[in-house]
Amino acid sequence: MIIKNSIFIKSSQDVSHCPKTDLPEYAFIGRSNVGKSSLINYLTNRKRLAKTSSSPGKTLLINHFLINDEWYLVDLPGYGYTRTGKSQRGELQHIITNYIQKRKNLSCLFLLLDARHKAQEIDRKFINWLGKNGVPFVIVFTKTDKLSREQAEKNQEAYRSFLLKSWEELPPVFITSATKRKGKEDILNFIEKTNNSL
Ligand code: GTP
Ligand code: MG
Repeated sequence: MIIKNSIFIKSSQDVSHCPKTDLPEYAFIGRSNVGKSSLINYLTNRKRLAKTSSSPGKTLLINHFLINDEWYLVDLPGYGYTRTGKSQRGELQHIITNYIQKRKNLSCLFLLLDARHKAQEIDRKFINWLGKNGVPFVIVFTKTDKLSREQAEKNQEAYRSFLLKSWEELPPVFITSATKRKGKEDILNFIEKTNNSL
């Protein structure tokens, strides 16, 4: 699939304020600073469609982007970090989980994991929560330009064995680097196939 056009539609504070639509959507979630907004810019071939920052906690709202007039990409706030401490962190967590549980046209969640780390506690907890709530998700490893292939494979293996403790089958896994522009085609093909199957 080729992305011919991508339009920012709106930022919402809560799932109830999100665009009313039946079009399928794909939301990007993961620890703060993992590279969600950067990946959206890379996929859409736009430098500043989604706002990025080198310090965590940049995205604080639910951001909808309409792609090819046919489906939505959604940039979510990250979990695990906020500048203003615990109460805002709780609030963001609530925005995210509420969105995931209530958004009817959410086709698939893209869970972004930093390729530099082995299965981290906060990500494992989140994955378990997705499992308990029956949320369909795929895994995207980000920032693979920052480590060797061997190291990346070791870290991916750690996730695989963690997942196989609870799941019989592993979700699809995508290997990406927004900086080195790697992994776009596989992700867009997956979205195209999912759209066609709906
Ligand atoms: P929050 O909105 O704060 O949750 O963060 P985010 O997950 O949207 O991360 P963002 O895209 O803003 O990127 C965070 C930082 O990581 C920025 O400094 C990016 O330039 C950097 N970054 C993102 N993707 C990559 C990548 O593939 N490789 C490298 N080397 N850096 C990346
Ligand atoms: Mg962001």
